[in-house]
Amino acid sequence: MSTPEEKKAARVLIVDDEENVRNSLKRLFIDTGMEIVLAPSGKAGLEILKGNEIAVIISDQRMPEMSGADFLAFSREISPDSIRIVLTGYADVNTAIKAINEGGAYRYITKPWNDNELISTVKAAAEKYHLLRENRYLTELTRKQNEELKRWSAELEIYVQQQTIDLTNQNKKLKQLNGRLEGQLKEFISSFSDLIELRDRTVYSHSSHVAAMSKGVALETGFGQEEAEMVAVAAQLHDIGKIGVPDVILIKSPDELSAEETVEYRKHSIRGQVALAALEEFKETGLLIRHHHENFDGSGFPDGLKGENIPLGARIIAIADRFDRLVKKAAGARIEDALKKLRESLGTQFDPALYGPVEKLAREDAASLVRQAGNGEIELSLSDVAPGMVLSREVRSGTGLLLLGMGSVLNEKTIEILRKYYSVDPHRSGIFVRITGKTPRS
Ligand SMILES: [Fe+2]
Repeated sequence: MSTPEEKKAARVLIVDDEENVRNSLKRLFIDTGMEIVLAPSGKAGLEILKGNEIAVIISDQRMPEMSGADFLAFSREISPDSIRIVLTGYADVNTAIKAINEGGAYRYITKPWNDNELISTVKAAAEKYHLLRENRYLTELTRKQNEELKRWSAELEIYVQQQTIDLTNQNKKLKQLNGRLEGQLKEFISSFSDLIELRDRTVYSHSSHVAAMSKGVALETGFGQEEAEMVAVAAQLHDIGKIGVPDVILIKSPDELSAEETVEYRKHSIRGQVALAALEEFKETGLLIRHHHENFDGSGFPDGLKGENIPLGARIIAIADRFDRLVKKAAGARIEDALKKLRESLGTQFDPALYGPVEKLAREDAASLVRQAGNGEIELSLSDVAPGMVLSREVRSGTGLLLLGMGSVLNEKTIEILRKYYSVDPHRSGIFVRITGKTPRS
């Protein structure tokens, strides 16, 4: 595509079989600044068109071999933009009209022509040619630019799509990784809390139960999911500091401890916080662990904090911790007894505002046990199983060793064996037995 910006001298092709006509026309245009090219026949004219850019074609109509109308029609195929003018005698007006219709002639001029009229017609034709070329150039330029834009936009779209796919994949991988990390962290926390239970056998799955109750109470008291999770982690690890407490102290209940032993025992809440101090993410968790033995009236340890000065998460863990121990130790209608004991300590040991949620969750838990019983089985801790009970599922040790098969009837001996295994390799879940009549816990 040529650029039409610099306006070249218009080239005019004059086709006439009469030499004197050709020459006089050439002379006529000598001062117009136009370049004149002459051809004696239509055939010669077509040859010139093939190798030259011609703005205006002036052709005589009446020529031997090829008429002006025919020549102009052929010339259209070679040089479609050239402006065509046919020269004709008065008698040939009809053929001139044919030249306009079929040969695409711009106009016709009759012989003998008027010099000025012919010059101004050719100048106007040359101007028209230039405008046409410019228009065609600009149209073509716009079309090419549009195509380019379309291509860019398609490329951009593909790029954006690719980026979106990449981002989505990365996001998915990140989510999977986060999920795995979260899972690993939960595993780690739970194994860590198992360490305490390996030594303190007075309670079964105590940490997990306190964690579940604490999370529930936290949610009931308006904690967000994430904060409630944090409270649950602190609850799961609340007694982690007991790892440093001698066995002789651990096996006693707090009221059996000597003054010296009490001092040692009470260190466990601070040791628990210290155990997590190295992990920045567990800073707040550590604080809840430190304060899980503070009493609402300020009589607790280690700092003697009072009322709302005790972090709410720590107050929650304190009441959930006590409730689970009461439930596990009391006999008979344990939930009711445990709740009664909690009520006696409200305002002194525990935040009275937390009793409602604890009671609600405790009753829901009892209801779920009854539902389990409706399925024909119930989950019991090892301390609750009794001779004569029938296993509804097999019993495995914590490391997966099969201890008793499904359907086994428990007796003193098998219970003793389970106790031995569980003392070194306890399973995380309880023992499932068939319901034969009265449920032992409701
Ligand atoms: Fe504790």
